[in-house]
Amino acid sequence: MITVLGSINMDLVATVSRLPKPGETVTGHTFTTAAGGKGANQALAAQRAGAQVRMVGAVGDDPFAAQATAMMHVAAVDMRGVKNSPSPTGTAVILVGGDGENMIAVVPGANGTVSSEDARACVSTMKKGDYLLVQLETPEEAVDTALDAARARGVITVINIAPLTARAAELGRKADIVIANETEFELLAGGKSLNADERIAALKRLHAENGQTIIVTLGAEGVVAIREGQLHRAQGLKIEPVDTVGAGDTFCGYFAASLEGGLPFDKALRRAAVAGSLACTKAGAQPSIPLAADVDAAI
Ligand code: RIB
Repeated sequence: MITVLGSINMDLVATVSRLPKPGETVTGHTFTTAAGGKGANQALAAQRAGAQVRMVGAVGDDPFAAQATAMMHVAAVDMRGVKNSPSPTGTAVILVGGDGENMIAVVPGANGTVSSEDARACVSTMKKGDYLLVQLETPEEAVDTALDAARARGVITVINIAPLTARAAELGRKADIVIANETEFELLAGGKSLNADERIAALKRLHAENGQTIIVTLGAEGVVAIREGQLHRAQGLKIEPVDTVGAGDTFCGYFAASLEGGLPFDKALRRAAVAGSLACTKAGAQPSIPLAADVDAAI
C-alpha cells in the first residue's frame, strides 16, 4: 500500500513556440486544462503502475476540485484522505515551449491547508513496510510531521524534493529514499553546480553520511542512484519530447510502485525511467501518465 501526501492542482496550460523572457509577451497556440499537482500526479502514476494507492491532500469547494481529482477517481485511487477546504483548489499556470520545456507558477490554495494533524492522521493507519511518498508542494510542517511519524512506525519513506523550498535539504535527509533532479541534488550536496564526476562523488559522500538511497534524475541522460553502497544507472527511451510536465512525477510514482511491488531496485529504476520518457510524448501532466501495459511493452 502506498500513501501519497501531496498537492492536487488544476493545470492551466498554454503552448507557445518559445518561452517568453521576463517582461516579454509571446503569442500562444493552444490553451488546455488538465489535472495536475505533484502529489496527485505521483499518486496516479503509482496506481497506474499497479500499486494500491491512497491520496491525502486538499481541494477547494469549487468546480476545479472535481476536474482535478477525476482521473484519480477513475483509476480507483483511495480518495478518502482528500479533504474539502474553504480555500480554492490549487492551480498551476504552465507555459510549454516548442521544445517541450516549461515554466510553471503554482498557487497552492487548498494545498496550503494540509496540516500536521492531517499528516499524523494519515500515518496513524499505516503499518511497517507500507510506503509514504511526499513532495514539497504542501506545507513543510505537514511533510516533516509525516516523515517523523512514518519513521516511528517502520513505514518506508520516499521524498521527491520538488519544488525546491527553504527546508528541502533538511526534509530530504529525513526520508529513506530521496529523489531529486540535477538542480535539486546540487542543493542537497551543498549548493554548488556539479559536473558528472563531482555528482558521483557527492552521491557517495552523502550516502556514506546516512545510508540513504539517493536517486538523481538526469532528463534525457536517464538516472543515477546509490543504494546500499552500490551505484546504479538506468536509461529511459530515446524520444522527441512534446511536453515534459509530469515526467518527473511519473518517474516517482512508477518507481515507488515498482519497488513496493517487489521489483529489484535496478529494474524499478529502469521501469520508472521508461515511464517518465513515455510521459514526455504526450501533452498534460495526468493525461500523459502511461499505462503499465505500455511501459512494460516498451521495456
Ligand atoms: O510536476 C508537474 C506539476 O507541477 C504540474 O502538474 C503542476 O501542477 C505543478 O505542480
